[in-house]
Amino acid sequence: MMSEFAADVRRGLSATPKELPPKYFYDGVGSALYEAITYLPEYGLTNADIRLLETHARDVASRMPADFAVAELGSGSGRKTRPILEAARRSGGKVRYFPIDLSASALENCGVTLADVACVEPVLAPFLDGLERVREEHREPLLVLFVGSSIGNFTPGDAREFLTAIRATLNAGDALLLGVDLVKDERLLVEAYDDPAGVTAAFNLNLLARINRELGGNFHLPLFAHEARYGENPPRIEMHLRATRACEVQVEAAGLTCRFEEGETILTEKSHKYTESMLDALVTSAGFSVEACWTDEQWPFAELFLRPA
Ligand code: AVI
Repeated sequence: MMSEFAADVRRGLSATPKELPPKYFYDGVGSALYEAITYLPEYGLTNADIRLLETHARDVASRMPADFAVAELGSGSGRKTRPILEAARRSGGKVRYFPIDLSASALENCGVTLADVACVEPVLAPFLDGLERVREEHREPLLVLFVGSSIGNFTPGDAREFLTAIRATLNAGDALLLGVDLVKDERLLVEAYDDPAGVTAAFNLNLLARINRELGGNFHLPLFAHEARYGENPPRIEMHLRATRACEVQVEAAGLTCRFEEGETILTEKSHKYTESMLDALVTSAGFSVEACWTDEQWPFAELFLRPA
């Protein structure tokens, strides 16, 4: 039987226009490249997120009842999650922390990095299944973290559906801390996704390299160029891979031969940017109320402390 990856590649490259799901960026190489992106000066999101989490961690913790636990959608890197876990430390010891992820190696890394500040109990599962499991098996009030603007990689409709599903798992007294990148100057955004050192280009092209490695593809990488485009309706960055010449590509495990015209692109990622009023409408329609909102001055980014309405 065809793997899910092969089936998604077959579907995405047979479609017009061509598109591939961004979840396949994150193999070992792609995860390391993404980590490198978060250190780029042009990619202001991560530093803004960290500044806000460091500055407001105590305020976040003080809004929760005593002895709350923390669940994170995605295995938090120590840099982002540590301030919250430190502020959440119980008088008697460490806070319980449930990172939820589909990547066993990411969970393992985060277990090692954060073991000194939390009792890490990794959950190997899709986000919503994992969150349901945590909520069913543990009684403590729960602070759920969904930071890093990962919500931006959903279309606004899918984001609403996803947040509604999170809302359905939460009890009164639980909260969601949501980090979201805001609309800003187009030039800054394009540079953030097309950095001069070419790290984001390597991250994008690794998707084709991964198809070659794992699915027996024969993409000739030098024929494809990374492109970041800003679109306004809705505001978002799109990442594409553009064929610089007409060519034909085979992907053995997907039983696929596909043709590219010169200039034709594969859309590989959408990264939506929000205004504060768009965000307010999004979270309200998903059944949350905004208890607090902090924004970063250097790189417009918002951290929302949300309660089930
Ligand atoms: C994971 N996600 C929030 C990143 C973003 O900004 O959309 C992924 C990324 N793509 C290119 N650079 C970073």
